Amino acid sequence: MHNRTHLNQAGVNELLYQALETEQGGVKVYTTALQCAVNKDLTKEWKEYLQQTENHVRILQKVFERLDLDPEAQTPGRAIVRHIGGALVEAMELALRNGDRDKAQVVAAECVVLAETKDHQNWELIGELILNKVEGAEELRQAHEEVEDEEDEHLYHTAGWTRELWLHSLGLPALLPPPEEEKDVKTAIAAARAKQGRKKMLRAAGTHQRAKTSGRSKTAGNGRSRTRRQRTSKKRLSTRPSASKGTRTKQSGSRAPRTRRSQNKRLGV
Ligand SMILES: [Fe+2]
Ligand SMILES: [Fe+2]
Repeated sequence: MHNRTHLNQAGVNELLYQALETEQGGVKVYTTALQCAVNKDLTKEWKEYLQQTENHVRILQKVFERLDLDPEAQTPGRAIVRHIGGALVEAMELALRNGDRDKAQVVAAECVVLAETKDHQNWELIGELILNKVEGAEELRQAHEEVEDEEDEHLYHTAGWTRELWLHSLGLPALLPPPEEEKDVKTAIAAARAKQGRKKMLRAAGTHQRAKTSGRSKTAGNGRSRTRRQRTSKKRLSTRPSASKGTRTKQSGSRAPRTRRSQNKRLGV
């Protein structure tokens, strides 16, 4: 099936219904994820993604209007998307009830990645419809142009956050915010490069951490002023195995409940 003649119009409509449901569910996923967020950079990012997702709902509703599709119409596939979205919200609520906000934050990051994987794929498939000049391609093109870059960011940046938050929870060196964010990653290949480059970034960040603990916090250890990149790296290093005072270690043991500010400080923000 490589031409328009064999296009499955019911399948096209199904994709659009699922795309709308994914965005509507995404609003609920981000709203709940924000209740789990501790890191202030991540909170800021998810607030922005929530607003963008609300806008994606509006953009798709306009597409439905132009294509004369009923945005309330239900399909079995749409019901499954709604069910999965609801399950992600429930998972985060369960994590919140368990009372550990750091763990709930990691759960939320994973839930956002799961939701955004579907969202990202929907828009990729819509891109294929446009490339294949299906009926309604022009109505979809403008929507796709508005949304595409944001979807790349939602998925790749949050995947980076999830990896680094997990590493942090394991007591391993972590970069917060993740390199995907600093490098403004918008493609799968750029995400792979950012991931590959993280060891180098950790080494640079470690140099500054050592310089700081040895009382040479204003230089990179060689007497020269720090570059902007070096300053960023210092800020980003959240956890080292031989953590200094104020940084979480693997043997955190029992502690008094932390305030939001102290949690953020511990996460290196
Ligand atoms: Fe979206
Ligand atoms: Fe998204």
